[in-house]
Amino acid sequence: MAGRFAGRTAFITGGSRGIGKGIAERFAEEGAKIAIIDLNEEALTETTHEFKEKGYHVYSKVANVVDAKQVEDVVKEVYDHFGSIDILVNNAGVIRDNLLFKMSDSDWQTVMDVHLKGSFHAARAVQKYMVEQKYGRIINISSTSALGNRGQANYAAAKAGLQGFTKTLAIELGKYGITANSVAPGFIETDMTKATAERMGISFEQMVQANIAAIPVRRSGKPADIANAVAFFADEKSSFVNGQVIYVAGGPKC
Ligand SMILES: NC(=O)c1ccc[n+]([C@@H]2O[C@H](COP(=O)([O-])OP(=O)(O)OC[C@H]3O[C@@H](n4cnc5c(N)ncnc54)[C@H](O)[C@@H]3O)[C@@H](O)[C@H]2O)c1
Repeated sequence: MAGRFAGRTAFITGGSRGIGKGIAERFAEEGAKIAIIDLNEEALTETTHEFKEKGYHVYSKVANVVDAKQVEDVVKEVYDHFGSIDILVNNAGVIRDNLLFKMSDSDWQTVMDVHLKGSFHAARAVQKYMVEQKYGRIINISSTSALGNRGQANYAAAKAGLQGFTKTLAIELGKYGITANSVAPGFIETDMTKATAERMGISFEQMVQANIAAIPVRRSGKPADIANAVAFFADEKSSFVNGQVIYVAGGPKC
């Protein structure tokens, strides 16, 4: 397939739905071979089928980013299958929202594990191939919640942590032709935000409208908005953009 990412392989964690799916699709549309991993077997099967029908080169596997061995193994399989790993997007994520006094150890640990340990596992696994190739693009999905958000002490800490992680990868790996950057989305319409509306006891439409009222561009975000920013960082021409965080939120602090 022709396009800006022709000949590249993009590996996306949590790529079966929502933002991860939008990112995977964007890369495939611009010519990349895509590898998606996810815990959700049903969504992964459905998305893989849909992508194959569209003619995309897709490799998919059920894998848990928290399990280092599973991540190492699938990264090797993808490398053996496609012959390179050029782009990693650490997108897999979960929320376990609660006010601090009600937040359990497990709410805290699950969020730290999926976002931080998961991104660490995937970045460590791919860097081996990227260093050999002398080329790579790592993009970590943070969040506006990194700036603080009520009910999200765990998630805010993890998403802020990912920004420090990104900057450190940028410093360590830059000399190998590898850049690391972060995209921090604001309110994006996905199953994750739908679940939050349900938990709050409001309709999704109510939630969308409430968010739009506070967003300067007066609309909510879609996975394609995040995919655009990810594609910018992943572009070969963005080789001097390293260790940056871009907020994609319809305004400066949404
Ligand atoms: N939706 C938003 O408004 C928003 C805003 C800011 C940041 N984000 C971040 O964007 C990313 C994608 O969010 P989304 O809204 O598409 O959520 P989503 O719940 O729709 O998708 C997340 C995907 O990650 C997968 N996943 C979860 N844990 C995993 C694990 N341990 N191993 C492998 N896969 C796992 C899920 O199965 C799911 O398919 C997340 O990191 C999220 O924190 C989302």
